[in-house]
Amino acid sequence: MSRQEGEGLHIREMKPEDAEAVEQVEKACFSVPWSRESFWREAANENTCYLLAESPSGQVLGYAGCWVSFGEGQITNVAVAPEARRKQVGTALLTALIEAVKSRGVTALTLEVRPSNGAALALYGKFGFQPAGRRPRYYTDNGEDAIIMWNTKI
Ligand SMILES: CC(C)(COP(=O)(O)OP(=O)(O)OC[C@H]1O[C@@H](n2cnc3c(N)ncnc32)[C@H](O)[C@@H]1OP(=O)(O)O)[C@@H](O)C(=O)NCCC(=O)NCCS
Repeated sequence: MSRQEGEGLHIREMKPEDAEAVEQVEKACFSVPWSRESFWREAANENTCYLLAESPSGQVLGYAGCWVSFGEGQITNVAVAPEARRKQVGTALLTALIEAVKSRGVTALTLEVRPSNGAALALYGKFGFQPAGRRPRYYTDNGEDAIIMWNTKI
C-alpha cells in the first residue's frame, strides 16, 4: 500500500468485495466489459495481482491487474474512469503494479492493446513496452487486431 504524491491518490490491493465498484469503472471504459463476477474471481486468485486507485473519499478511480506465472506477468487490465484521466492515475497504477509483481519474481511483462488505442499505446510506451507482434482479429466486437507488447527489462 502506498500514498502517491499529488492528489492524495491511494493505491491498494483489490479485494473481492471491491468487484461491484470496479465493474462500474469497467463499464465506463470498455465496449466488452468484464463482469463483476470476473473481478471477484480475479481478486481472489493467488496467481494474480490486482490493484486499485482510490480518491481520498474512497471512490474507485481505476485499477490494473496482472496474471503471474513462472516469472512472467500478463497485464490483463488497466483502466481509469473517464473523469479521472490525464491525472497520472494510470501511471501510478502501472508503477505500483510493476513494483508489486517484481517483488513476486516477475522479470518480464506482456500485454495486448488495440492499434486504435492511442492513449494506452502512449502510456505503455512510457513504461518501456515495445510491440512484438500481432494477433489478427483478436477483438471480437470489431475484429480489430491486437498488438502484443513486451517489456523484458522491468
Ligand atoms: C489508457 C488509460 C488507462 C490512461 O490512463 P490515465 O490515467 O489517463 O493516464 P496518465 O494520466 O497516467 O497518462 C500517462 C501518459 O499516457 C499517455 N496518455 C494518456 N492518455 C492519453 C491520451 N488520451 N492521448 C495521448 N496520450 C495519452 C501520455 O503519454 C501520458 O503522459 P502525460 O500525461 O505526461 O502526457 C485511460 O485512458 C483509460 O482508462 N482508457 C480506457 C481503458 C483502456 O483503453 N485501457 C487500456 C486497455 S489495453
